[in-house]
Amino acid sequence: MRTNVVIIGAGPAGLMLGRLLELAGVDAIILERKSPDYVLGRIRAGVLEQGTVDLMDRAEASTRLHAEGLIHHGIELSFDGDRHRLDFTKLIGRHVMIYGQTEVTRDLMNVRKAPTIYEAEDVELHNFDGHSPHVTYKKGGITHRIDCDYIAGCDGFHGVSRQSVPEKALTTFERIYPFGWLGILVDQPPVADELIYAHNARGFALCSQRSHTRSRYYVQVPADENVENWSDTRFWDELRLRLNPETAKALKTGPSIEKSIAPLRSFVAEPLRFGRLFLAGDAAHIVPPTGAKGLNLAMSDVATLADALIEATIEKSQAGVDAYSAKVLQRIWKAERFSWWMTSLLHTFPETGAFGRRIQRAEFDYLCSSHAAQQSLAENYTGLPS
Ligand code: FAD
Ligand code: PHB
Repeated sequence: MRTNVVIIGAGPAGLMLGRLLELAGVDAIILERKSPDYVLGRIRAGVLEQGTVDLMDRAEASTRLHAEGLIHHGIELSFDGDRHRLDFTKLIGRHVMIYGQTEVTRDLMNVRKAPTIYEAEDVELHNFDGHSPHVTYKKGGITHRIDCDYIAGCDGFHGVSRQSVPEKALTTFERIYPFGWLGILVDQPPVADELIYAHNARGFALCSQRSHTRSRYYVQVPADENVENWSDTRFWDELRLRLNPETAKALKTGPSIEKSIAPLRSFVAEPLRFGRLFLAGDAAHIVPPTGAKGLNLAMSDVATLADALIEATIEKSQAGVDAYSAKVLQRIWKAERFSWWMTSLLHTFPETGAFGRRIQRAEFDYLCSSHAAQQSLAENYTGLPS
């Protein structure tokens, strides 16, 4: 087999890249290790920046998103029960859209016409620093080979693409936080119209949602916590303790339909191009979920990468692929900074002690009183320009 671009990974980054290439007439094959149902079963992000919505429009995959997505004009911050609402629309004239990553993935799967090969095992990348890259994989016990011009590594943090780059060609930057998020999905109406990010001495909590009838809640837990230790009752009791009393009283609970723990990490690999291999999305970087940036950042990477690969394939110009890494890293580091800052403001860090908590309180009070600080948060949360 031969194609222009082999895309490794059919998460949101790989599927979006595949779709943008397909619409531009560039051939691409996607190789995915898991089954479609497995990919759709992963519950992850829920907040879309306007840039991501625009990209779904460009991908001609946005009909359901516009019909079912919820426009949110702001968020609430709560610190030891003291509440403050940030109105993004008033502050900077922008908003975000609530629409689950699962649904984004499903919509992109549904519009795709070109092949996606699911349950592709033992994917290996070859010769990407030369002129004739190719990818091999096993399916049904048979090894297949695809020759291509370019390889796009969209295979997430644990994927094979970044691991295929020689160690000395890559610089990595990492911060691992001593906690994770225990998340629960429940078929109950959300506790509030907008998201609530809450800091409390017992730890961070987030009240999020997927629709008017489906809610997503998170609590900060130690990094080594085991999900088996958390019955639904224990989760709801802990969440109530971390919220303002009125919010806790209004909480509608029910049996969880999903429960999982996600570790928190900040990570960037540089550069993001090695000859004819490009890294995008979680394969290239991880942000802690506090700023809701992970999915959005993956989408903005592939928007730039798609334009670069279209230019290289159709116009035979290397300018876009040459500029890709430096261009996307600028935006990546700004999102890394914001996600780290939101995480630092809202979580408990036992090692920073009483001094650290006072600094967090001062930061919250400053945010409540400063229009400039609120605008800065709003600008970053709703998405910086690419
Ligand atoms: P992924 O979604 O990871 O997709 C990569 C794909 O590549 C997967 O389908 C995988 O199966 C496939 N793959 C991996 N290895 C191979 C291989 N060797 N061969 C072929 N295919 C392979 N972000 C938020 O904004 N909010 C959240 O609440 C949030 N929660 C998260 C919870 C968890 C547990 C995780 C891991 C991430 C979370 N994120 C969240 C981040 C967000 O979901 C990611 O940033 C987003 O999924 C990135 O998309 P991606 O396509 O780059 O990677
Ligand atoms: C979610 O709904 O899963 C969600 C929302 C906002 C975040 C992180 C996760 O910051």
